[in-house]
Amino acid sequence: MSISYAPAGKTGKWDGALDWLQMLSGASLILFMWCHMILVSSVVIGPGVMNAIAEFFESTGMVQAGGPLIFLVFLVHFVLAARKIPFRFDGQKTVWQHARMMRHGDTWLWVIQAVSAMIILIMASVHIWVVLTDLPITAAKSAARVQGGFWAVFYLFLLPLVELHVGIGFYRIAVKWGFVKDSQRKKFKRGENMLTMMFIAIGVITLLRFMFLSVN
Ligand code: HEM
Repeated sequence: MSISYAPAGKTGKWDGALDWLQMLSGASLILFMWCHMILVSSVVIGPGVMNAIAEFFESTGMVQAGGPLIFLVFLVHFVLAARKIPFRFDGQKTVWQHARMMRHGDTWLWVIQAVSAMIILIMASVHIWVVLTDLPITAAKSAARVQGGFWAVFYLFLLPLVELHVGIGFYRIAVKWGFVKDSQRKKFKRGENMLTMMFIAIGVITLLRFMFLSVN
């Protein structure tokens, strides 16, 4: 089910197209995040593996061009999704009342999506800026950041928020695009929760690896 809190009169052909664009940008970001987590976690196998992967992506210009491109998709995705987020207090009150009144799990998921989105927007922008303005990416530099303490805490907040957002987004896209029928929703949701937990676990293990990596 999709609930739009956009003002009346904003619906129509354009709104449908923008909805598609929102989902396509979301799907691309989900794929990016899955790849990103797997690539960063290569440090668990060995810092040399992470360095070699980073070198490949930099020597082919994929980080220099892909980084800003991902940031652009990220902004477009937020602006499109923000059409439905109520920024005024009366709108927020209405959503809150609906969610409580309806006791509908998927409406709660939407509320989590909207709140996490705003925090991720700020935190991920800072993260992307810090990483892209300090190229090349190396395991030693990443480890030094995490061992500094601030970034370890920063990632411990950003990681679950992102994985929750990605997991719920994946579920909502699957339901909206009709990959998952009503009868399969529960099973799919359970599978999706497991995937989310798995990525959080991979992220925590990666952070621990950075924490104990010798940077000399
Ligand atoms: C645009 C290009 C991006 C690049 C090149 C990049 C690169 C990196 C690197 C090198 C690390 C290792 C830690 C460090 O060096 O500080 C890292 C960690 C992380 N990044 Fe990104 N990142 C990008 C985008 C994003 C986005 C869009 C998000 C979330 C919306 C994100 C979320 C995270 C998280 C949560 C961690 C911690 C990983 C863990 O728990 O192991 N990154 N990223």
